[in-house]
Amino acid sequence: MDLSFKCFRGFYFSVATSNVVCVYFCWLPQSNSGGMELGDGSLNPGFRDVDGGSAAEDPGKEKRDPEYAQIKPYAGMPKEVLLLHSCKARYRVPREILFWLMVACTLALVALTVTVIALSPRCMNWWQVSPVYQVYLRSFKDSDGDGVGDLKGIQKQLEHFQYLNIKSVWVSPFYRSPLRDSGYDVEDFRAIDPLFGTMQDFEKLLAEMHSKGLKLIVDLIPNHTSDRHRWFNLSRTGDPHYKDYYVWSDCNGSAPRPNNWVSVFGNSAWTYDDVRGQCYLHQFLKEQPDLNFRNPHVRKEMTDIIHFWLEKGVDGFRVGAVNRLLEAAHLRDEPQVDPKKAPESVASVWDLHHDYTTSQLGLHDLLRDWRAEMQAYSREPGRYRFMVTESYDYHEVDKTMMYYGTSLVKESDFPFNFYLLDLPQNTSGLWVKHLVQLWMANMPKGQWPNWLVGNHDQPRIASSAGHTYIRAINMLLLTLPGTPTTYYGEEIGMENNNGTDGPARDPAGKYNASASQDPQRSPMQWSSDMNAGFNNKTNTTWLPLHPDYRSINVKAQMEDEGSVLAQYRSLNTLRQSELPFLRGWFCFVHADASVFSYLRELDGLSRAFLMVLNFGGEPAVTDLSSVPELPDLLTVQMSTNRSNDDKVLHKSRIPTEAGEGLVIQYTTNTRFHPNHPEQCYVSEKACYLSAVDLLYQC
Ligand code: NOJ
Repeated sequence: MDLSFKCFRGFYFSVATSNVVCVYFCWLPQSNSGGMELGDGSLNPGFRDVDGGSAAEDPGKEKRDPEYAQIKPYAGMPKEVLLLHSCKARYRVPREILFWLMVACTLALVALTVTVIALSPRCMNWWQVSPVYQVYLRSFKDSDGDGVGDLKGIQKQLEHFQYLNIKSVWVSPFYRSPLRDSGYDVEDFRAIDPLFGTMQDFEKLLAEMHSKGLKLIVDLIPNHTSDRHRWFNLSRTGDPHYKDYYVWSDCNGSAPRPNNWVSVFGNSAWTYDDVRGQCYLHQFLKEQPDLNFRNPHVRKEMTDIIHFWLEKGVDGFRVGAVNRLLEAAHLRDEPQVDPKKAPESVASVWDLHHDYTTSQLGLHDLLRDWRAEMQAYSREPGRYRFMVTESYDYHEVDKTMMYYGTSLVKESDFPFNFYLLDLPQNTSGLWVKHLVQLWMANMPKGQWPNWLVGNHDQPRIASSAGHTYIRAINMLLLTLPGTPTTYYGEEIGMENNNGTDGPARDPAGKYNASASQDPQRSPMQWSSDMNAGFNNKTNTTWLPLHPDYRSINVKAQMEDEGSVLAQYRSLNTLRQSELPFLRGWFCFVHADASVFSYLRELDGLSRAFLMVLNFGGEPAVTDLSSVPELPDLLTVQMSTNRSNDDKVLHKSRIPTEAGEGLVIQYTTNTRFHPNHPEQCYVSEKACYLSAVDLLYQC
């Protein structure tokens, strides 16, 4: 077969193309030395490899083609001459080498890319990297001087989040509401309450947050509405479409309630409605009737509300009171905790086992459906929509963990972890270890932990645990694995304001003054100026200011390198810049009556961190000489007591004051976790290849 002949047939490409084609054809064995066909079909005897192997194979060749062989390459040469030269071994061989090199490199690159992608651990999401900061809207910043915090106020303070290196902000409810339960009693899920601003203010806030790289998480309050909601009015008047939007049962004004169920805020969970002549259920205030999620129209309404806010661009939802979304349809009495107690005196949520009002079958299906809606809006890169659930299950940790979903069906990104709220019950290292272990040991494999020590429903930790411990507590939150949530003011060590005069604003406080949540909701302390910088008008603030605002405030602490705020900030920076904190193993190292100690390490990275936190009431000296994985000498990178920064300690004698916490950075090539698997946890294994600065799954 005459391949060289075929090489030339129809050869009408540009010079560049002809080179490529020629590389191909000239590389093929030239089985026939009969020359090549010219455009007119005649053979060109000169189309031969004249200076390569063929010349050697055919010593007479030079003689046969003396004319072409003499022609040197020149610009504009005809194709015959071009081909003559391009097929010479001198040009052809390097070209072939280059060609195959290119092929090999491309294949290698593709293989490398596929391998790197396959081995890379998942990218961390925004809600994992940054702590979540909870803004209690009424108390954060008042822009118009009416005494109540508002959306424009948050916008004014965005720099605060940037200063703290916080990217995720959860803003408590701003929906239209009669504010019986601080906005958790919603009259219109799609409107902004005028007290907090307008829809335009909301949109501006969101746009500005996004432009600053901040994410906004909002409350989703599916369990109930306000009794002023349009649906409730239509339901109580018996409108056919709305009549089953809520949970109604027969009863009359004087007769007993349908069952013994009690409201979270105390007394019966049923209220007689004289318009409809029936009782409706409310697991919270009587002004907060429970929605009936067994009704498909109600489910559809809630999905539409989720869409509405996702379309607006919110980055996530804190879904409240999820364990109470459904109640048993049979409406039987719940068992009493103390069966001997007179049934008529059962009035508190603690008097009953909530077998029929919490964690009912079908509840996770609702949440999974909502999660699926959020997933549909999470496809664009960087637009993941986050979901965190609120469910107080107390000692029933398994129930809480259910909200993570399964490996096949996603639910919450994490359910709030409320265990550290119990920290003040017993300030000791062993106790704190127990609380941390409760979560770590029960969390499903591969899930992401989270921590908090306060929110608008809980006393402030700086008061309940004591101001001595606030720094160590912040250090704990910011060095444990997973996402910490910071309730506004915790970064400066704000305390409860117990000296609140006048009637309680909070519903819980109306039933029981000692349970009031007003003390933890006092206005944010921005400065020592008028009204602590919360607003600069002479009129009142919705709740009184804590009198300590003159010394405990953001401005003063920004100027003090040793402040709670400065320490929070450095810890947060450390947390986000060091792989062992974000991705590494967490291992329990030691716990006693005072000290809780743990470490963070990453395979392949010689830098690791040891934390030694004294939660006891006395100074302590911790001996970690039995931990061979630790080097003998340890340098304190950060102490809550700055005078101890940079101290070099022997591992057998690590002194801490009560309430002192140490972050110790050390260098090692011996990991702790392989020898102590039962003491260590990691959400997703990752290893570091320092030679090429690469993180991979291992
Ligand atoms: C959860 C909120 O955190 C709490 O403040 C509120 O009282 C209840 N939901 C009821 O709405």
